[in-house]
Amino acid sequence: MKVKKAMKLVEEKLPKKRYQHSLRVAETAKQLADIFHGDKDICEMAGILHDYFKYDDLSELYQKVTKYKLETELLAYSSEILHGPVAAAYFKNEHNIDNQEIFDAIYFHTTGRRQMGLNEKIIFVSDYIEPERTQPGVEEIRDMIYKEKDIDKAIYEISKRTVLYLVAGDKTIYPATIDCLNYYNLQK
Ligand SMILES: [Fe+2]
Ligand SMILES: [Fe+2]
Repeated sequence: MKVKKAMKLVEEKLPKKRYQHSLRVAETAKQLADIFHGDKDICEMAGILHDYFKYDDLSELYQKVTKYKLETELLAYSSEILHGPVAAAYFKNEHNIDNQEIFDAIYFHTTGRRQMGLNEKIIFVSDYIEPERTQPGVEEIRDMIYKEKDIDKAIYEISKRTVLYLVAGDKTIYPATIDCLNYYNLQK
């Protein structure tokens, strides 16, 4: 799929703010691809498409989990967790995006996991630090990336903050997120 086509699909599907977020993630990911020697084309495409199903109803997402034979474990989680895996499978199956790195980057963009690929790491981080993000502590994560150039440390810190936030809200934590936290705690 061409970049323009991907942008058009996302622009037609998502509210303007989320479309613009998607473009900022793609731009940030291209920058990070420069810094960490990732693949700019993979990063751009995954960035544009990653939130495509962000606002679909849970029932629609559940149907697609079944249709694309994704892990049934996903059915215990909210759209916050499901929108990545469903988008990865949708673009692979319906738009012939046959690239494992794009698939993984979209699939795990919210949860992370152990042993992420380079472009997958870049999307995970870009989603968290794109320029309009203002969550507490985001500046520290930006420093880890742009000053220290330590992407594994940034992944650990993002995972830690995510887990702390989820625990504080009595939310269930998707197992890949715990794996991500433990794995990158040893890599940082
Ligand atoms: Fe997302
Ligand atoms: Fe996002």
